[in-house]
Amino acid sequence: MKYKKIGDILILDNGYSKEDFESLAKRHHVKTIMKINHIQGTKREPVYKILYGNETETINKENGCLFKLDLAKVMWSKGNNNERLRIAKLVEDNETVIDMFAGIGYFSIPIAVHSNAKEIISIEINPNSYNFLCENIRLNKVDNVTPILGDCMIETPKFSADRIIMGYVKTTHHYLKVAIDSLNKGGILHYHETVPEKLMDTRPINRIISQAGGRDVELLKINKIKKYAPGVEHVVIDARIN
Ligand SMILES: C[S@@+](CC[C@H](N)C(=O)[O-])C[C@H]1O[C@@H](n2cnc3c(N)ncnc32)[C@H](O)[C@@H]1O
Repeated sequence: MKYKKIGDILILDNGYSKEDFESLAKRHHVKTIMKINHIQGTKREPVYKILYGNETETINKENGCLFKLDLAKVMWSKGNNNERLRIAKLVEDNETVIDMFAGIGYFSIPIAVHSNAKEIISIEINPNSYNFLCENIRLNKVDNVTPILGDCMIETPKFSADRIIMGYVKTTHHYLKVAIDSLNKGGILHYHETVPEKLMDTRPINRIISQAGGRDVELLKINKIKKYAPGVEHVVIDARIN
């Protein structure tokens, strides 16, 4: 049986049958056991079943950061933990960062905790995620994160930044133009895409180039995050836009 522990909640994969959930909960020191069937819609809301207990709010500790969330209301992006720390370590002193699709602060909080960024502008459309983002800013005692409740398409052009994170894999390429237009000269884009393996070296970077309006695009890295589906990878493209 596969599972993941998020704070003091256990999330089970498909392979459970007639488990004794009470003893499973005791063994793993959790208050609740859930099964997340899938994540739906633009706001990435979970469709779930509670198998044991009833509380769905928890605090997950990761990379020296605290993330409070309600697993019945918002998704936990599993599999991105190394990426969250990688990005935080790339941020240089005094940078302004825009975290598009910020969720509960998956990237914004580690950047605030582990770097000396000047400001992190965190844009999130889902009011539940936004409320946890605000709470996580307080919980981690960071003072350089500016949370914004709204649509990245509308909010991003109001700012300019040295680095922009596009941590969403549904229709992210539709947002490339607003992101690039908000990026300072020499700024860095972290663009997420789910892509068939054989197109990994071409499609994402070509999409960036096509939206760069003639600005020079320098490919820095293609970072594999995880297998998204058979033959499909979730990748992040690091690109400098001059
Ligand atoms: C899958 S989560 C990813 C969070 C985080 N960026 C990461 O990669 O771990 C994507 C988030 O983007 C938000 N979102 C989707 N469309 C958006 C939009 N147009 N503007 C702002 N946020 C959006 C969703 O509500 C969700 O919280």
